[in-house]
Amino acid sequence: MSDASWVDAPLVDAWSQARARAAHSMQIPGHKMRYGRSAETPFAAGVLAPLIRDDIPLQGGADDNVFSGRVLERAEELWAQAIAADHARFLVGGSTQGNIAALTSVVAPNVTICIDRTSHRSAHAGLVTSGATPRWILPRIHPDFGVPIGVGADSVDMTDAYALFVTSPAYVGTITDVAPLADLCHRQQAVLIVDQAWGAHLDFLPGMGAHANGADVVTTSVHKALTGYSQTAVTSLRGGRVLPSTLSHGVDLTATTSPSATLLASIDATRVALQRDGGRQLALVTEAVCDARRTLSAIPGVVALDEGLLGCSVDPLKLTLWVPNTGTTGAAIGAELWSRGIGVEAADADTVIMTVSIADDPGTVAELVAAVASVVESLRDTPRKPAPAATWQVEPEVVLSPRDAYFAHRRRLPLREAVGQVSTEQFCPYPPGVPLLAPGERVTSEVVEAIEVAGRSTRMAYCSDPTAQTVEVVAEVTERSL
Ligand SMILES: Cc1ncc(COP(=O)(O)O)c(C=O)c1O
Repeated sequence: MSDASWVDAPLVDAWSQARARAAHSMQIPGHKMRYGRSAETPFAAGVLAPLIRDDIPLQGGADDNVFSGRVLERAEELWAQAIAADHARFLVGGSTQGNIAALTSVVAPNVTICIDRTSHRSAHAGLVTSGATPRWILPRIHPDFGVPIGVGADSVDMTDAYALFVTSPAYVGTITDVAPLADLCHRQQAVLIVDQAWGAHLDFLPGMGAHANGADVVTTSVHKALTGYSQTAVTSLRGGRVLPSTLSHGVDLTATTSPSATLLASIDATRVALQRDGGRQLALVTEAVCDARRTLSAIPGVVALDEGLLGCSVDPLKLTLWVPNTGTTGAAIGAELWSRGIGVEAADADTVIMTVSIADDPGTVAELVAAVASVVESLRDTPRKPAPAATWQVEPEVVLSPRDAYFAHRRRLPLREAVGQVSTEQFCPYPPGVPLLAPGERVTSEVVEAIEVAGRSTRMAYCSDPTAQTVEVVAEVTERSL
C-alpha cells in the first residue's frame, strides 16, 4: 500500500466541488438542499436543512447528466487496484445487494452451488433470484466454544457444482482458509464467491483479503469494518472466470438508478484515507485489540477468542468474548453495556461480539475493556453450562429449491402446527441474520424450538408474522428430492 500523501480521489473531489457549487438545479433531488427559498420555517431551517445539506446525487451532482467525468468509474478502478482485484463496483444497497448481485450473475436456475448454510439471509435471497440449487455445507464448529471456525475443503463436494459460496470472516470473527477452497474450485473451472461483508479492512492488510487468496468474486461492506456511510459496499472480481460485464448485469439488476454521490464518495474517501495513512491506523488498532484480548482473558470466566484457542485465523479487529464461566450471559452483558452507552455488535447466551475499527484508538479500546470488566463483576454468578447458538448448526431438511418454495402458493399456520410442512419464508434471529428456517426447508420440531428459544432473547426478523407465532408454508407440495 502506498503511503504517499497525495492519492487520487476522483469521486471525493467531484463531490466536494458539487457541494461548493452554487448551482441553479432544476433536477433531482427535489429538495435542492433546502426547503423554500430563504425564509424557512424553524423546522425547515433547523432540522430539514442540515439533514439534507450533503445529499448530493451522482447524476447531475458529482457528475453531469451524461457522466462525462466518469468519476464513479475511476473511483471503482482505484478501489480495485488498491485491493488487488481486476474490477470493482460500488454499491449503496450494502453487501445484501452484493450477495444477491453475485449469485444472480454467477449461477442460474437449476445450477448447483455449494453454499455455506451459515450464510447471511441475503445469500438465501440470491438463491431465490438466481434459481440455483443449493448443496448446503456446514462450517466446522469448535467443540468447546460452539462457534464456526471456517469451511474446510474436505467438507465440500464440488461434483457438478458450478460455484462455491462461503462467508469469511464469520460473524464471530473467524476466518476461513480461502486458498484451498480456491484451488478446489479452480481445478474444475468453478467460481469461488466469498461474502467478506465483515472484512473490508482485510483487503488492506497484506495477504488477508479473499482475493489475495484466490477468490473470484468478493463482496465487502465498507460501512461495517471501515468508514463508509451506512449502506456502502463493494463487489469485486479477480481473474477471468467471471466477466466484468456478467457481474455488472447482477449489480445493475439490483441497483437504484439514483445513487447518492455522498454515500459513494465515502467509499472513495475511505480508500484514500487508508492509503495516505499507509496502514498505521490499522496496525495501531490491531495492537490495541491484541492487548484487549489479553486483559479481558485475565478476568475470571471471560475467554477472549483468538487464533490460539480456536485453531483458525481470526479477524484482528473483532473482539468476541465467550462468557458461560462468568455465570451470566452475553445478552445480559450486552444489555448492561448498552445501558452505559456502549453498543455491542451482537450478544447471545454464550458470546458478546464487539467490532473495533480504524475509527478507534488504544484509548477507546481501553475504555471498552474497563467497562466490560466492571459489567462482568456486577453480573457475576455461578459458572453455568454453555448454551451455544443454534444459528451456526442448522442442518436443514431440504424439500424444494428456495425459488420454487418462495413462488409457491402459501397458507398460514400456527408455527407449532406447521411441523412437517415446507416453509416459504425465512426466520432470522437478527443479528446475525442467518436463517434458522428458509424457503424450501421442512419445518421440524427442532427448528420450531430453536426459533422460540432465539425469539426470547433477540429480534426474529424477516418472517411475515412479526410475532413469529405463525408461518407461511407451501400450500401444495409436489415433493422432489434435490
Ligand atoms: C455475513 C453477512 N453478509 C452480508 C450482510 C449484509 O450486509 P449489509 O448490511 O451491508 O447489507 C451481513 C449483515 O450483517 C452479514 O452479516
